[in-house]
Amino acid sequence: MSPYIMDWLNLLIRWFHLIVGIGWIGASFYFVALDFSLKKRKKMKDGVLGTVWEVHGGGFYHTEKYMVAPAELPKDLIWYKWEAYLTWASGIALMIVQFYWHADIWMVDANVLDIAPQTAIVYSVLSLTAGWFIYDALCKSDIGNNTPLLMLITFFLILGASYFYTHVFSARASLIHVGAFIGTIMAANVFSIIIPNQKKIVASLLKGDKPDARYGKIGKQRSIHNTYLTLPVLVMMVSGHYPMLTNHPQAWLLVGLVIVGGGALRHMIIRHEIHAPFKGYAWTFPVIFVALAVAMYMTSPVMKVVSGDVDVMSDKQLMVMINTHCASCHAITPTHENFDVPPKNVVLNSAASIAKFRDLIMSNVVDADTMPLGNETEMSDEERVQLGAWLLAQE
Ligand code: HEC
Repeated sequence: MSPYIMDWLNLLIRWFHLIVGIGWIGASFYFVALDFSLKKRKKMKDGVLGTVWEVHGGGFYHTEKYMVAPAELPKDLIWYKWEAYLTWASGIALMIVQFYWHADIWMVDANVLDIAPQTAIVYSVLSLTAGWFIYDALCKSDIGNNTPLLMLITFFLILGASYFYTHVFSARASLIHVGAFIGTIMAANVFSIIIPNQKKIVASLLKGDKPDARYGKIGKQRSIHNTYLTLPVLVMMVSGHYPMLTNHPQAWLLVGLVIVGGGALRHMIIRHEIHAPFKGYAWTFPVIFVALAVAMYMTSPVMKVVSGDVDVMSDKQLMVMINTHCASCHAITPTHENFDVPPKNVVLNSAASIAKFRDLIMSNVVDADTMPLGNETEMSDEERVQLGAWLLAQE
């Protein structure tokens, strides 16, 4: 398929993924905040647990929450499920278009692990599936009743997955996979637990029985898990733009910090939204701060090249290096089969154009090895140091 068609497919699926993802996250945060905002009032209908008054977009809204369910099933019940299903489905479609399609350059990096592209795809599919089954079994076991223990084990499960991905896939593919691993658990929570339990409640209502409150409780547990995982997933999904994260030798530890910091941030946002007493969630601030500080410290740039260390090569030698390692993609008309326009508009056809992208080349090629993509042209560490010295001399 032509790179032009692939780019359009990629863009349209990505746009769709964002739209439904925003819908999913928005609804999920809204309902958690709604739950916390419920107040018991003097005049409430039978079976109502609490109500909320809200104002938005020029109107006032009065929402009631029923304990388990209303006595009669409303005909026009709105289900919130397609946001989750479509976010997951479009995420997988994007995974195929962006990564599986050209797994040789996007997923495999021989310096990490020399595997066949097909093997990488098999690892990806199997690990994403296994993640859900392990997590679901944990929740259903006795551990499921012990929230702190469940949290801890789930945390280590994700950390383990991160270790696996960062030691098997290219940097570009690894943290995105952590995001997909968590996202799959979240979507499967909706698909296999939250909605089916809700349907059981509806079914017993239709039969005229009293629905079992347990189903609602189990659904709520998974729904709360989902909101804590949401914010870290977002960092994983944009991680590809930040080689300081994806190419860090201990990127899997950074994932741990993102989960701790992002989870605490979720806690803080919801408490703040519902005007909870500050004392109750003040602890989230130091947690977020420490997680962020450690992550920033870990990723602080290690100067691989210091001016004066290495002789600076001539512009002619530079062009030979760039033509060998970069020009197949970063030319006005790339010769690489997967590209017909220069990626990210980065054209490297003269010393001046290379100097123009100095900082980006420094972070992607010298400090990290994000480029050449998948190290397809086998650029050596010495060459990277030489390139760094040339870039440093351009100040
Ligand atoms: C196989 C094709 C290929 C080769 C070879 C390649 N690149 Fe890239 N480069 C890409 C793609 C694709 C992107 C866009 C990545 C993305 O979507 O984030 C990119 C992006 C970049 C960026 C922009 C990064 C950013 O964050 O905006 C720079 C700078 C860059 N490449 C430099 C280089 C240099 C220098 C070399 C040679 C040492 C090189 N590339 C070799 C495909 C390649």
